[in-house]
Amino acid sequence: MANGTRILVCRTCPRFVPNPRHDRTDGAALGAEIAALAVANGWNPGDVRMVNCLAGCKNPCNIALDGDSKYRLRFSLLGPGVGRDVIKAAQQHGKSTNGDIPKAELPEKLRCRLSAKSPPRIGD
Ligand code: FES
Repeated sequence: MANGTRILVCRTCPRFVPNPRHDRTDGAALGAEIAALAVANGWNPGDVRMVNCLAGCKNPCNIALDGDSKYRLRFSLLGPGVGRDVIKAAQQHGKSTNGDIPKAELPEKLRCRLSAKSPPRIGD
């Protein structure tokens, strides 16, 4: 279950790779992987949102965990194959009170990929 957590996946990454020789970006492939795993774990399809940018273009692929009144966590330098770790981190985010998951508690593959942490939006 999502517990209010949404997974945002940049489908545009890697933005600066000229003329990639594949029919979809790594970000789109990662998004499809995450969406399939999320649904298999009982999440609503709408809990995974494909977006055009997460402001981490220099270090693709990027995903973010977001939720009302929770920290937004962005992870960079990802690619297809890390979907299970993203789902695990999203479950931790959903269970936490404010989304501020200590780095040491994140799935190992994501620990060194945390690239931004934004506090909850003011006014929520
Ligand atoms: S294009 Fe993917 S984060 Fe900007």
